[in-house]
Amino acid sequence: MNKIKKTLFSEKPVTLDKNSLIMAIESSCDETACAIVKGGREVIANVVASQIKIHQAYGGVIPEIAAREHLEAINVVIDETFKQAGVKGSDITAFAGTVGPGLVGCLLVGMNAAKTLSLAYDKPFIGVNHLNAHLAANFIDTKLEPPFIALLVSGGHTQIIKADSYSKMEIIGETIDDAVGEAYDKVARLIGLPYPGGPKLDKMAQEGNPFAFKLPEARVGGYDFSFSGLKTAVLRLVKSFDESEMPVKDICASFQECVSTTLLKKVKHALEETGYKQVVLAGGVAANSEIRRKIFNLKDEGYDVYAPVMKYCTDNASMVASSAYFFNNTFDNIDVEVFSRA
Ligand code: KG4
Ligand code: ZN
Repeated sequence: MNKIKKTLFSEKPVTLDKNSLIMAIESSCDETACAIVKGGREVIANVVASQIKIHQAYGGVIPEIAAREHLEAINVVIDETFKQAGVKGSDITAFAGTVGPGLVGCLLVGMNAAKTLSLAYDKPFIGVNHLNAHLAANFIDTKLEPPFIALLVSGGHTQIIKADSYSKMEIIGETIDDAVGEAYDKVARLIGLPYPGGPKLDKMAQEGNPFAFKLPEARVGGYDFSFSGLKTAVLRLVKSFDESEMPVKDICASFQECVSTTLLKKVKHALEETGYKQVVLAGGVAANSEIRRKIFNLKDEGYDVYAPVMKYCTDNASMVASSAYFFNNTFDNIDVEVFSRA
């Protein structure tokens, strides 16, 4: 793994190797995060400032408020990361920042901070795709190398990815409507759970009967998914009960059973078709208890299964540093701009 990177001012190229320290910044949504990672796998410092409490009052992320909060937090988060790591800016090999997809105003704060550091210390800037970063969370503290099949489930995306190498990755399936995290958050709102609904719904589901209600699994071709019909079915089910008598835990468990079964069927199919023996789970919804349980069950069938520990499932900057180290991307250029959609 020897990647050659250029800085803006110096003629001498920089090589990334096992001893490289990458400082990365993540600010694509409602977490301001900074981290320093050595050789793509060893986290030296990981700092996350969450805005959840601020957005809770509105029941969701308000982009303008999020961007302003990032501005407030960014310098403190960077200082704290240097402090925790015990290193100086001049010790860093390259600076990385998420450039998209995400909320543009939010991305601008983190990316420009990373670019500024790279110019100030004359080190390369590496722009990172947020989805690649979620996948790269699986490199932290492991020996994982491609090829593998990945299930990426987040607030904005649901994809099955065939990763042949660090530079060749193909999305072989994705949702045609709602993302899994989005479906969790919408269903949570339907049954009156506060934002962010996904983790709360998961908790309720663990105490309910997953087979209490038979919810419809969408029939979509290939490796694609659809979750909007399921959401409507839950809405109909919710409306069929008086609020005081609604079996909330059973509804949550039945929804969770339907989602996790659908996801795992397609992942298994992809593994069988490709013959790949490694499978990785990634994205914020990788924190979900039932999806984790079902994917880890694939171990019994001879597959190597990877899923990040909880703190690297949801948005963080260690995964961004790891992505900058391992994946070949086209954003490592100081002139790159942020983008909102994948
Ligand atoms: O990856 P992420 O931070 O968002 C994007 O990058 O889009 O993931 C956030 C999503 C939210 O929709 C949240 O509700 C969901 O992940 N989530 C969960 C759980 N923890 C987070 N969904 C279901 N069960 C969980 N335990
Ligand atoms: Zn994310």
